[in-house]
Amino acid sequence: MKERTVMIKGLFAYAGTFFCEMEETMNKNSILTMSQLSNEEIMKLLHDAEAFSCSQKDWQLSRPRLVANLFFEPSTRTHYSFASAQHQLGCKVEDFSAESSSTQKGESLYDTVKTFEAIGYEAVVIRHTQDEYFKELENIQIPILNAGDGCGNHPSQCLLDLLTIYQEFHTFENIKVVIVGDVCHSRVAHSNKEAITRLGGIVKFSGPDFFMEDSNETMPLDEAIEWADVVMLLRIQHERHAQAMAMSKEEYLEKYGLTHERVNRMQKHAIIMHPAPVNRGVEIASDLVEHPKSRIFKQMSNGVLVRKAMLKHAFEEKFEDEL
Ligand code: CP
Repeated sequence: MKERTVMIKGLFAYAGTFFCEMEETMNKNSILTMSQLSNEEIMKLLHDAEAFSCSQKDWQLSRPRLVANLFFEPSTRTHYSFASAQHQLGCKVEDFSAESSSTQKGESLYDTVKTFEAIGYEAVVIRHTQDEYFKELENIQIPILNAGDGCGNHPSQCLLDLLTIYQEFHTFENIKVVIVGDVCHSRVAHSNKEAITRLGGIVKFSGPDFFMEDSNETMPLDEAIEWADVVMLLRIQHERHAQAMAMSKEEYLEKYGLTHERVNRMQKHAIIMHPAPVNRGVEIASDLVEHPKSRIFKQMSNGVLVRKAMLKHAFEEKFEDEL
């Protein structure tokens, strides 16, 4: 797992240069990583998302836009909240099935996406197992919205997490966030650390040593629980582990999970977050998922709002006067 950490750190170090180079060719309305967005762009996306929950509920595109959702990895929240956002905005939506597509005959990701562009799709949403798959797609002209790349980035999840935090505290300045659990396999942790820190928050990490990354500041969970304004739990990503974890669910919950005893020591105003899906009884005691401090289902609702804002951003140049 440590080897993975070194590789991920290397990828992030390269990201800045990469985006400068890609800017020339890719659609500038693509959203691939948080690091490509300025603080102002992030705040605009959050304000647009908030607006969608209030007065602009009924805002639609001036004509239906043809959008394809290409999920090469399982998803419930991201896939169907993108679909919900697309339907609510009046898009025509096509769900791509990798199993019944020509990827089964060896067609590359680039040729698949280029095909969608050639046959009239106006934007694509992509989730893929490969870290930074979008590096292969620099000649694609239509906007790409990244729905998660391997262990790399998950910008739409990050934006919905930011919206949830902002709704609660009305600022990111000095907000203390502890991210707990399987950090080294988590694109959520990577995107959130980068964005929350840049917006003025303080991010620390907690969990077993074998899930930590060298570059991250860690804190023992029992200390972090009392320190944090936001306790952000992560799913153990068994599907990304090279070998099975040598710890029972009960032992993990007791050592590194959110138990009733720990919730009782959280600050009065502090909240619980988790990107989900949740391993109930592992990262968090099952009945705490819907505890009054939990914003887990609020995060999911916010997911539709930020994905609407991302779609608006994707088509912005053409529709900037419509909102
Ligand atoms: N949080 C998240 O990305 O969930 P899904 O894998 O269900 O999309």
